[in-house]
Amino acid sequence: MQSISVPLQNRSYPIWIENGLLAKLPELLKPMNQNQKWVIFSQNEIISLYGNNLRESLKSAGFQVELVVLPDGEKAKSLSALEGIFSQLMEMGCDRSSTFLALGGGVVGDAAGFIAATFMRGVDYIQIPTTLLAMVDSSIGGKTGVNLPAGKNLVGVIWQPKAVVIDPKLLESLPEREISSAMGEVIKYGAILDRDIFDLISSNLEDLLKLANPELLTKVIGRCAKLKADVVAEDEREGGKRRILNFGHTIGHALETNFGFDTLRHGEAIAYGMLAAGKLSIEDGRMKNEDFELLEEIIGKLPLPVLPKFDPNDILQIMQRDKKVRGRKIHFVLLEELGKAVIVDDVAKRSIINAMEGL
Ligand SMILES: NC(=O)c1ccc[n+]([C@@H]2O[C@H](COP(=O)([O-])OP(=O)(O)OC[C@H]3O[C@@H](n4cnc5c(N)ncnc54)[C@H](O)[C@@H]3O)[C@@H](O)[C@H]2O)c1
Ligand SMILES: [Zn+2]
Repeated sequence: MQSISVPLQNRSYPIWIENGLLAKLPELLKPMNQNQKWVIFSQNEIISLYGNNLRESLKSAGFQVELVVLPDGEKAKSLSALEGIFSQLMEMGCDRSSTFLALGGGVVGDAAGFIAATFMRGVDYIQIPTTLLAMVDSSIGGKTGVNLPAGKNLVGVIWQPKAVVIDPKLLESLPEREISSAMGEVIKYGAILDRDIFDLISSNLEDLLKLANPELLTKVIGRCAKLKADVVAEDEREGGKRRILNFGHTIGHALETNFGFDTLRHGEAIAYGMLAAGKLSIEDGRMKNEDFELLEEIIGKLPLPVLPKFDPNDILQIMQRDKKVRGRKIHFVLLEELGKAVIVDDVAKRSIINAMEGL
């Protein structure tokens, strides 16, 4: 088992990674079991795939374990769902000593993490990500929260888990599109922080997308998790360094908002956003053409949906409403080279529009 540390003083925690690790969870969590109530939070499909078995295996190992079913889809991340869940936790006899397990993708992780952060002013929780996006991104770093009708993730708190348990084998049941979309975020880590992993992903993209090489997949996930862990350790509250994780997100988010979730998944929008940010990096005189070509080549190999026709001015307007716009300037993460990112806030509007043309 690989163990990566997220060093945050008294809030430090390990990320454990191994193919098939879920089956060893009772053994892994045994040292933390002090007869408290354990609660698995998950969604229907994930419960039938993994949740029921996990519950049984924990029970057999002597854990007192309950199950909370969150609504399907993003509905799990709504304030209205929370009231009933908090009451349910009271009925189950949960208290300050309870430990929660978030078994699912980013939706479950964000919702269960928020519940853990606020129930009884905060209880321990463990992230067990079941999607590629959650394994490399959302389960690490402690960002928890729910959505409002006005937008996503508008209510939340940073509450670090006690551990993150990553079992890449769980990805075998994940729809292909979830894998390829999240691969956008995987590529992002290489592009902003690590040229070696970028090259490794690039030469093995097909195998990674098909989950054809579990050893390599585990290595790549581990590397991304470590990169995220290091960024979070340096800047837990996103005041500086953590913002480089937004590479591709300035334009990507706006594309996502414009086209909606059915047309474009998050990672797909980010892939397009990275292409545009790559073009801006060249125009800015930062990145060499040959690095951009490599970025273009790897993104070109992703099975991305073709973007419907759009007016770049509409996307620019959406970007100006985005919460990442500070002091009315649009912040961009650009590349100086593959593996090295910088944050800038002086990109001309005309250049942004040009970068979107031809996407
Ligand atoms: N907290 C953070 O730092 C952070 C970072 C990025 C994204 N997010 C949030 O994460 C959410 C997106 O997460 P996601 O992409 O993981 O999507 P998701 O949680 O909605 O999961 C995608 C779909 O896959 C299903 N699923 C999950 N695991 C499965 C498995 N192993 N086998 C079969 N089906 C499975 C789910 O039921 C769901 O239908 C968004 O709400 C986003 O805001 C949070
Ligand atoms: Zn993202």
